[in-house]
Amino acid sequence: MEDLVQIVESARADFAAAEQSAALEDAKARYLGKNGALTALMKGLGALPAEEKRTRGQQINRAKGEVEALLNARREAIANAAMEQKLASEAIDVTLPGRTLPMGGIHPVMRTWMRIEEIFRSIGFDVADGPEIESDWFSFTALNNPPNHPARSMQDTFYVDRCDGTGMQLPLRPHTSPMQVRYAKTHTPPIKVIAPGRTYRVDSDATHSPMFHQVEGLWVGDDISFTDLKGVYSDFLRRFFETDDLKVRFRPSYFPFTEPSVEVDMAFTSGPRKGKWLEISGAGEVHPNVIRNFGLDPEKYIGFAFGSGLERLTMLRYGIDDLRLFFEGDLRFLRQFN
Ligand code: PHE
Repeated sequence: MEDLVQIVESARADFAAAEQSAALEDAKARYLGKNGALTALMKGLGALPAEEKRTRGQQINRAKGEVEALLNARREAIANAAMEQKLASEAIDVTLPGRTLPMGGIHPVMRTWMRIEEIFRSIGFDVADGPEIESDWFSFTALNNPPNHPARSMQDTFYVDRCDGTGMQLPLRPHTSPMQVRYAKTHTPPIKVIAPGRTYRVDSDATHSPMFHQVEGLWVGDDISFTDLKGVYSDFLRRFFETDDLKVRFRPSYFPFTEPSVEVDMAFTSGPRKGKWLEISGAGEVHPNVIRNFGLDPEKYIGFAFGSGLERLTMLRYGIDDLRLFFEGDLRFLRQFN
């Protein structure tokens, strides 16, 4: 009996000392395994007289039960400790900022572009797109530019080599007006279109960039007058700036492809920029020579055209005073619009 108590106490101490389940299973073998202490005592039972064998057998079995209970308790404790440790090491700090997927944004000039398309589509204008590398004919000749017009000069316009052995060059379109001709030649009146896009000029300062954007507008039918230009353009500005608090002025000017020609100026009648006139567009009634280059009879067809700078409209809408900000790619600037 004494030896059994000792065995149980020794197992209790051994199990308690085992920190890992491998060590615990080793300790278990020393008591319950094939060559374990309790197993050895069981084997020794055979040599005892019948009466003693029974009591001793019961005692051994009880001791075995106790050792098994100790073993199971320790197994559970070790498993719990392992789980605790795992939980602690894999803990998630829910206060950390999440991993976000950065979102792209829309460039302010592109927002203007989209707004303009939306406004003109709503009054029945088509939207057209055309090449940035243009021909001399569409850029100048078809638009009634005299042969020695300064717009053709290398100082004002970028040219690219044709690389076809002819040594000839093609202009990067200095305005979107070539689209008047391209579109009108391939459509039948009434022609009602805007053509937004990139344009290029040898120019660079706070209000000019060598690459900039324009939107061309053209409406030709059998009776599209200067009054229509005034109405359409003034209404466009009110919708674009989302205010009726502005004045629009059509100031006489000159373009070879319109007659009469005007510069369109506008001024806000309220807010911080109140009262200051700003030039925002060229416009006019399409010149008869240009109508002819559309392939149409100027005795039958008449209409207006305009060409407006998208950067200028964007600067006015958001109160930006340096155009170069649009093209520097500085996210601190660009994020303000998204
Ligand atoms: N193409 C002219 C410019 O770039 C603007 C314009 C377009 C003027 C259409 C009249 C008619 O300055």
